[in-house]
Amino acid sequence: MEDSNSILAVRNLTKIYGKEQNQVVALDHVDLDLAAGEIVMIMGPSGSGKTTLLQLLGGLEPPSEGRIKVTGGEWQNFYLEPEVSHYRRDMIGFVFQFFNLISSLTAEENVALPLILAGQPKKKVAALTEEMLHLVGLSERSKHRPAELSGGQQQRVAIARALIHKPAILLADEPTGNLDSSNSADILELLLSMRDQLGQSMLIVTHDPYVATYGDRVVLFRDGRIVDEYSAEHIVGNDRNERSIYILERLQAISNKPRSHQVLA
Ligand SMILES: Nc1ncnc2c1ncn2[C@@H]1O[C@H](COP(=O)(O)OP(=O)(O)OP(=O)(O)O)[C@@H](O)[C@H]1O
Ligand SMILES: [Mg+2]
Repeated sequence: MEDSNSILAVRNLTKIYGKEQNQVVALDHVDLDLAAGEIVMIMGPSGSGKTTLLQLLGGLEPPSEGRIKVTGGEWQNFYLEPEVSHYRRDMIGFVFQFFNLISSLTAEENVALPLILAGQPKKKVAALTEEMLHLVGLSERSKHRPAELSGGQQQRVAIARALIHKPAILLADEPTGNLDSSNSADILELLLSMRDQLGQSMLIVTHDPYVATYGDRVVLFRDGRIVDEYSAEHIVGNDRNERSIYILERLQAISNKPRSHQVLA
């Protein structure tokens, strides 16, 4: 069923790497929906398909099977050129664990880059860049290069860059994986404020149950399949620490299940 509030609908998404006896089923018939303004946390053991999911959703890899629909547009052939380039440019913002900023460019030049590459007029680029740097709290650091910024500040620049073209979905793979707990909390609060101020939808991969407490929903992967899922109101606990223990227990429960698809089905 599709609801009008849906920003992303994934159906039957499957990714098989390799050939014949070397085949790896990285994603196995995944169905997933994301509502406008929703933050979904993706968790699961190493190798369970989390990064593969983001790569397919980001148009970086073609699916072996299945469909992806974003904000009403049908992207069934979204991995063919020129559609895939337009899809990546217009629909998707990416944030990575290691920030991936261009070291020779200043903070503001990094943030402006997607608009410059899209050929937007200078005045518009300057105004939007200033607005985004302000939103992430880095107006004072606009002329600094990445090496002159802390890890947390570099990730703020990366978030501003990922959101400047107002993508339908922000995809983040371990965005706090390279930050200490205090900087992680700041980045997560920033992402929440982006959701509140811009209505930004996000899919965030994390190994950290504490990070997952910031989601509206947590989806657990195992062997390329969704094996558990729950929304924030069903996460038991009075504060983030208690809630992260609850999430950790659910994560351990799916990791301990036998590796049989029959059992997981
Ligand atoms: N390019 C590739 N070629 C072949 N196999 C791949 C490729 N990329 C991923 N895989 C395999 O697909 C499966 C899923 O990998 P993926 O990177 O999506 O896992 P993950 O959940 O992100 O793990 P982690 O938590 O360690 O980052 C793994 O078995 C992996 O070895
Ligand atoms: Mg990964």
